[in-house]
Amino acid sequence: MPSTYKILYDKDYADSFKEADAFALDVLVGLSTPRKKIPSKYFYDEKGSRLFRQITEQPEYYLTNCELEIIDHHKEATARYVDYGPFNLVELGAGFSKKTIALLEYFAESKLDFQYVPIDISEPAMRSLVQSLDSRFPAMEVNGLVTDYFNGLKWLNNRYKRRNLVLFLGSTIGNFTHAEGCVFLRNVWNCLNHDDVVLLGFDLKKDIELLLRAYNDARGVTREFNLNLLHRINRELGGQFDVTKFRHFGTYNVFSGGIESYLVSLEKQSVFIEMIGRSFSFEAWEPIHMEYSYKYLISDIEQLAGETGFEIYEHLYDSRRFFMDSIWRVYKPESVQKTLEKSRRGVRSTVL
Ligand code: AVJ
Repeated sequence: MPSTYKILYDKDYADSFKEADAFALDVLVGLSTPRKKIPSKYFYDEKGSRLFRQITEQPEYYLTNCELEIIDHHKEATARYVDYGPFNLVELGAGFSKKTIALLEYFAESKLDFQYVPIDISEPAMRSLVQSLDSRFPAMEVNGLVTDYFNGLKWLNNRYKRRNLVLFLGSTIGNFTHAEGCVFLRNVWNCLNHDDVVLLGFDLKKDIELLLRAYNDARGVTREFNLNLLHRINRELGGQFDVTKFRHFGTYNVFSGGIESYLVSLEKQSVFIEMIGRSFSFEAWEPIHMEYSYKYLISDIEQLAGETGFEIYEHLYDSRRFFMDSIWRVYKPESVQKTLEKSRRGVRSTVL
């Protein structure tokens, strides 16, 4: 079965902009606030994705190997949630990682009846993903969707009436604040059906030294990864950042539970960005916030599930208990579904 990917074009949605416009707008907003910040989702251009892959190969960055160990060790346990009928194996933000391959291999060997549906916003990434899957698993049904997570999930759910197993690996959820994480999970919940299954990766709270080292690796790859976002602004938006005038700073806030990463301006300077048509000024030692990577207690994870409409099936750990893949069930029985529909109708009639 040849692998394919489908592009759900954003222009099908009335008031969306082009990618570059959105990037420029987000940089404008982020650098105009008193406490400057740039959204971390923009790290992943081609160069940034390569640098991230390099980070995962650094000895200090334990996350990837921990999750690989979990998946490898618990593929049977995971398969048990979906082994009784055709299902979609959906991956949000798919990267063709070793982790996913291990799972795909096992599912294929076990002759499970499924299609693999990676969803990613980047078309070049999707094209190479689909191509490599095609040569590695020629018999596997692969249908990639180039769109955002929620468009992809909704499209899929309308089109195929089967169970979904949704993967969101790597502790990507850790980039969201608690409030953003709740919105994200509730959106996923909204797009799925009762009894669908999600598998979410969470990095756990642990020895602070280990955390700090993971985000300040000795070879400086994380630093390069962070600075690449300024390079990206230069490349794509005609920015004039001199990256030697910024330093990477990664720290851990024990109270919020987040690794926080910053670029700090080493001197007073002003930086022009052509596509935005203005300059941004920086004081000496003024920071730009770049990324949160939140770490979780087990109780944090259980609370998050409860708050957003999921039931926990099982927590899977690596041998050192550094990381957790948590398997949740979408809880949305008839009665809940009916109440939701009723309240939606209620809202509509008030508006009319
Ligand atoms: C891909 C979001 C999981 O937060 O650990 C790695 C990104 N940033 N080193 C993380 C990242 C700095 C990574 N995630």
